[in-house]
Formats: sequence, structure tokens, C-alpha cells
Amino acid sequence: MADHPTLPSRPTYRILFVCLGNICRSPTAEGVMRHMLRDAGLENDVDVESAGTGGWHIGHPPDERATSAAKRRGIALESRAQRFIADHFDDFDLILAMDRQNLADLQAIAPPPAERRAEVRLFSEFLPPGAPPDVPDPYYGGDAGFERVLDLVERGCEAIVDHLLGAESARRG
Ligand code: 4NP
Repeated sequence: MADHPTLPSRPTYRILFVCLGNICRSPTAEGVMRHMLRDAGLENDVDVESAGTGGWHIGHPPDERATSAAKRRGIALESRAQRFIADHFDDFDLILAMDRQNLADLQAIAPPPAERRAEVRLFSEFLPPGAPPDVPDPYYGGDAGFERVLDLVERGCEAIVDHLLGAESARRG
């Protein structure tokens, strides 16, 4: 049998953003996060996906209003909607719910923390004190709602990247 040199392996940290439809807020967070990870040189160390607790839009691209708003800030949204499934609790390290209802829906089906891989948290924990607890659902509103989502998502994702960079430098020692 051929002797293959083994590549230095390191665990990939996996993040999943979760909202209701997976066509507005969580795909925006996924796109913004991917963009920021590339800028930070972490794109090979961190995987990002998004999912919805509802299944209406499975396979669909993000809402055109979300895509346009992100594009105006130089960010591409390229995901396809998937529904959150229980396996995700073991496939990801960090699951971030975009609002408190999304978090409650996840917690209702989550195995106990000791029996799952993922930490399940609210996205707004990464926002500054005084920020709203929810990234508001923009689906039934106007364009301003999509700008607001981007404002909140950009701030939160910056804090998440800082958190990951801190963990990375601690790992390197
Ligand atoms: P999202 O927004 O959860 O941010 O993707 C929504 C998209 C679609 C629906 C609700 C919210 N919907 O009811 O179809």
C-alpha cells in the first residue's frame, strides 16, 4: 500500500446562522461572515452556512432585496435555502439564532448541551450593550429593513471574527 504523507490537519470551526425562512437574515449573515473571514485570512479555518427553521423556501436563493442590499456594500449572497435539521446540532460548533423566536425553536428540539457539539446562542450576544435582542425580520417590510439587517449583521460579524482571531492567537500561543 502506498505510503501517503499526512497533511497537517486542524479542526475546521463550523458556524451556522439560523433564521425563519433562510432567505433574508441568515443568508445575509452567512455572506457577510464569509466576506469578513476572507479579509481576515480565516477562510480555510472557519466554515459558514445558514439554515431556516421553516421549510417554505428550500433550495431558493436569498430574497432579491437582501441580495441587492448586500451587493451595494460589496457583499455577495450565494447560498441556497436549507431547513434546519437536528443533525446540525452535531455538524456545527456554533449555532447563532437571529432572533429570540428562532432561538426558542432551536432550544425546543436541542439535545442537552453535553450531548451535542454545538453551542447554541443568540446572534445579538455579539452586538454591543444596548443593541436590540433580535435582528428584526425584514420579509414583510421595505428596503430599510434590509439595511437595518445589514447594519446589525456587520457589527455582530465583526465581533465574531474578533472572537475567532482571539481564539486563533491563543491556540498558536
Ligand atoms: P428570514 O425572513 O427568516 O430572515 O429569511 C423570512 C423569509 C420568509 C418568510 C418569513 C421570514 N416566510 O414566511 O416565507
